[in-house]
Amino acid sequence: MRILGIETSCDETAVSVVNDGRVILSHVLATSEGMHAKSGGIIPEVAAREQIKSILPVLEEALKGAGKEKIDAIAVTIGPGLIGSLLVGVETAKTLAYVWGKPIVPVNHLVAHIYANWINQKPPLFPAIALVVSGGHTDMVRISGHGKLKWIGGTRDDAAGEAFDKTARLLGLGFPGGPKIAELAKDASWDYYDLPRPMIDEENLDWSFSGLKTAVLRIVEKEGKNLQKQNLAAGIQEAICDVLVRKTLRAVKKFRPTSFLLAGGVAANRRLREKFELEIGNLRFEIDFRVPPPQLCTDNASYVASFAYYNYKPISWEKISASPGLTITGEA
Ligand code: KG4
Ligand code: ZN
Repeated sequence: MRILGIETSCDETAVSVVNDGRVILSHVLATSEGMHAKSGGIIPEVAAREQIKSILPVLEEALKGAGKEKIDAIAVTIGPGLIGSLLVGVETAKTLAYVWGKPIVPVNHLVAHIYANWINQKPPLFPAIALVVSGGHTDMVRISGHGKLKWIGGTRDDAAGEAFDKTARLLGLGFPGGPKIAELAKDASWDYYDLPRPMIDEENLDWSFSGLKTAVLRIVEKEGKNLQKQNLAAGIQEAICDVLVRKTLRAVKKFRPTSFLLAGGVAANRRLREKFELEIGNLRFEIDFRVPPPQLCTDNASYVASFAYYNYKPISWEKISASPGLTITGEA
C-alpha cells in the first residue's frame, strides 16, 4: 500500500511516499530553519508563510518520484505544532483526498516520530518503551501494540530540544541549537564547568531542564570574555544526555520491554546515541535498542506515512482539522 505523507507542523515542509510503511519511494523536504537563525527560535508567522510557498513545489517533487496514480491513501500531521503551519498541510491533504477520492488518515506528530524506527528495518517488537525527544516535547511511553500507548514520564518544563536551543542562544550560536552545540562540543571537556542534572536521582520518570538554562546563563555572565564556549557546549550536551539516559534506563529496568525505541530530533545527537548504546549494552537482560538514522530523526514525512500504514484508520476529510495542542496520548 502506497501512502503519501504530509508534514508541516513547524518549520519543515515535507512530503513522502512510503510503500507498506517501510520502503521510502520519495522523500522531499524544504525548511525555513535558516530564516529563524538570528532570532534563536521559530517565528510562527514566518514559518507559516514559508509553508505556503513550499508546499506545492515539495508535493510536485515527491509525486514525480512515486506517481500520483498509484497513491492509495493520504496521511497528514494534524498536531501538535504551530497552527499556521499545520493548517497548510492539513488543508492541502484534505483537498487532495477530495479531488483524488482517496482515504485520509490523521496523524499525531509525536507518535509518528517513533515510526521512523520501522523504516527500512525489520519491525521492532512489542512491548516497547519509546522516548520521544523533540524541539517542543520530551515524552516517554509504554507501547503494547500499534495505537496502544501509555504515557509514563515527561518534562515538567522545557523539552530536551528546547534546552539545547535556549542554551545555544545564550552562547550566541543561532538556531537550531542542538546541532550547533553538538558541533562545538566535539573534542571539548564536558566536565570543565559544573552543570546541574535536575531530578536525576528522583524515583519518578520525569525531567526538568529549565534549571540548566539558568545555570548556563550564570556561567556566561560570570565568565564574560574568558568563557570557554566549547567546554560549556560539551557540558550542556553531557548534562542533557545524562538525565535523559538515566531516567529512561530506570523505566527500562522497571518494565523490561522487548524493545526500546528512541525518536525525535534530539535522537540525532551522536553523544546521546552513544550513551544509550553503552548503557543498554551494560544491562543484565536483552533489549532491542532502535534509533533511526539521523536524517529520519528530525522532522520529515516518511514516518508520517509509516505511522498511517500501521495505524490505518481513515476518516472522512470533512472531519479532519488541525489540533495544535495534541499530546502523545491523543488528548487535545
Ligand atoms: O523533532 P524535531 O525535528 O522537531 C520537532 O518536532 O520539534 O526536533 C527538533 C529539535 C530541535 O530542538 C533541535 O535543536 C534538536 O531537535 N536537534 C538536535 C540535533 N539535531 C536536532 N539536538 C541535539 N543534537 C542534534 N544533533
Ligand atoms: Zn518533530
